[in-house]
Amino acid sequence: MAEMPEIRQATVAELADLARLERDAYGEHAFPPTALRQMFDIAPTLLIVAVKDDELIGHAIVLPSVSDGVREAWFVALAVRSDMRRSGTGRLLSSEVLRRAVGHGYETVMMTMEPGNTAGRALSESLGFVTNEQAGDYFEDGVPRLVMSWQAASGASLPTPFG
Ligand SMILES: CC(C)(COP(=O)(O)OP(=O)(O)OC[C@H]1O[C@@H](n2cnc3c(N)ncnc32)[C@H](O)[C@@H]1OP(=O)(O)O)[C@@H](O)C(=O)NCCC(=O)NCCS
Repeated sequence: MAEMPEIRQATVAELADLARLERDAYGEHAFPPTALRQMFDIAPTLLIVAVKDDELIGHAIVLPSVSDGVREAWFVALAVRSDMRRSGTGRLLSSEVLRRAVGHGYETVMMTMEPGNTAGRALSESLGFVTNEQAGDYFEDGVPRLVMSWQAASGASLPTPFG
């Protein structure tokens, strides 16, 4: 079995590589380096990276929300370097960032997803995300998005890098 990547919190020094990976995965929808730096300052423990052979090969970002009366967080980025996909890294990153969000008291985690994103949908649904609605023009880019949610109480098991 291939060696699994190290899954841990990002460092400031890794943000430039993270921004490159973000751009490769999301193109014009990528978060720019400035936004990533601010996310790091806002929620450093929820900026998670996958590192293999000293190279950053993936990241996952969850941000807390402060909506009235709702203790929820938003899964705003998940990407694995294209040559490193289908080896379990996306699942490890997602599981770790969800586990950390739960550890911070967030029991609901939201995300948006392009309906045609086969890999993203299969992964998120296997983790227990369900579709709440399809928003016609969520980002005003003419592309519909699924608005999905995950409940810690759903009992979905989160695999760890070690078990
Ligand atoms: C989505 C993404 C993060 C998955 O990363 P990954 O490391 O390849 O995922 P994993 O190897 O952990 O696979 C986890 C599950 O995802 C699903 N999956 C992954 N790639 C898939 C594909 N090409 N087709 C169908 N299902 C796929 C499978 O259910 C897989 O579980 P399995 O291996 O037990 O069958 C990666 O494809 C990516 O970076 N895509 C571009 C950015 C993106 O779309 N992000 C998610 C939307 S926010």
